[in-house]
Amino acid sequence: MKLWGGRFTKETNELVHNFNASISYDSRFYKQDIEGSIAHVTMLAKQEILTAEECGAIIEGLNGIARDIENGTLEITGEYEDIHSFVESNLIARIGEPGKKLHTGRSRNDQVALDMKLYTRDEVAAVDHLVRKLMLVLHRLMQEHLTTYMPGFTHLQKAQPITLAHHFGAYFEMLKRDRGRLADIYDRMNYCPIGSGALAGTTYPLDRAYTASLLNFAGPTLNSMDSVADRDYLIEFLSALSTVMMHLSRFCEEIILWNSNEYRFIELDDAYSTGSSIMPQKKNPDIAELVRGKTGRVYGALISILTTMKGLPLAYNKDMQEDKELTFDAIDTVKGCLALFTGMIDTMTVNKERMRDSAKNGFTNATDAADYLVGKGVPFRDAHGIVGQLVLYCIEKGIALDDMSLEEYQAISPVFEDDIYDAISLETCVEKRLTIGAPGKAAMEQVIAANSLYFEDAPEL
Ligand code: ARG
Repeated sequence: MKLWGGRFTKETNELVHNFNASISYDSRFYKQDIEGSIAHVTMLAKQEILTAEECGAIIEGLNGIARDIENGTLEITGEYEDIHSFVESNLIARIGEPGKKLHTGRSRNDQVALDMKLYTRDEVAAVDHLVRKLMLVLHRLMQEHLTTYMPGFTHLQKAQPITLAHHFGAYFEMLKRDRGRLADIYDRMNYCPIGSGALAGTTYPLDRAYTASLLNFAGPTLNSMDSVADRDYLIEFLSALSTVMMHLSRFCEEIILWNSNEYRFIELDDAYSTGSSIMPQKKNPDIAELVRGKTGRVYGALISILTTMKGLPLAYNKDMQEDKELTFDAIDTVKGCLALFTGMIDTMTVNKERMRDSAKNGFTNATDAADYLVGKGVPFRDAHGIVGQLVLYCIEKGIALDDMSLEEYQAISPVFEDDIYDAISLETCVEKRLTIGAPGKAAMEQVIAANSLYFEDAPEL
């Protein structure tokens, strides 16, 4: 059952076995372990290190193991140290002598490096797919809300009017960068470590480039010590996942605020809300809160692996087995959060009137009033001071800038004329902002057109 009993005179202490074993979690990549082994023996046969018959028997045995795990007739159990031991022991039990040749020219060190890479490579693509789906929903919402006016905030204080399309567009850009990071990681990690042996390669005439091509890698890794000691790609992936979560968490924070009684900008769908056991009136944004909360555990996985790796001498050390559980948890967490978040924003209702009213109140057009004076020849610093006086006057009277009479305007500055009302209307404030990336409808339409092309140009991983 053990792969290494020969030089030992005693049985392993049971606690040691349990402490050392990884099978409870590395069973997750049994498919990748089998896929990697099939590629390895195919190469061994091509190099005439194994005979075609031995290779055929091993592949048949491995495929049988995969099939039986999938149909539930073969259970992965805890008496094995890890998935590698489980597969090899089962193979030998099934096919006898040729099974003992599976491990020729490899070590568990390069084997686990390969398995984890194959598994992670698929998960990078799966996360990319989910981010893309969220972006498609945002793309639709942006088209729908080109003239849904709302206040834009700085310091969580109303600043200038924008549109909901523009607000969603900010997240679209963040997610675009997230996908860019995933694509970079995919390319950088896509080199095959198998054939590096324990650390120093092997004396068998392996064709590593061939194994790499069988497994769809761009090529073999180029230093056998680095191959078994590298976990950079996990650190990069967890960093990218942390950034995705940071973006979702910021978005959730806004959803929670917007969904509150005080804002009422949006209402979450009943299917994406929860109730209170004591307060019958409550409809809580638990999903958004949980996504925000789960961000912490994904950051935790990143910090954990960075810390695990920081003092390790070359090449393989058992510490590296700790790369798995938290990475798996982070991947599951991010995938779950992305799917739920997408459903939540896809189904929420937008209260356009509330958003518009909020944009109209709170002096979001004060900058435009100052710009109006600049247009009439007043230096900006003076204009800023004049509008400050207007705002103070309005606050005292409990009115908006739009509600002041022309006489009131002119009492503060004679430069004001009748065209001030048009200059500071909500429509003007938004629609005159037409620089690239600004919220004006015409500017946003160009961005939306570019985003449509983006979906064609940035293929899924
Ligand atoms: N379970 C081990 C891991 O995840 C597999 C590699 C074991 N290698 C060794 N030299 N003990 O890292």
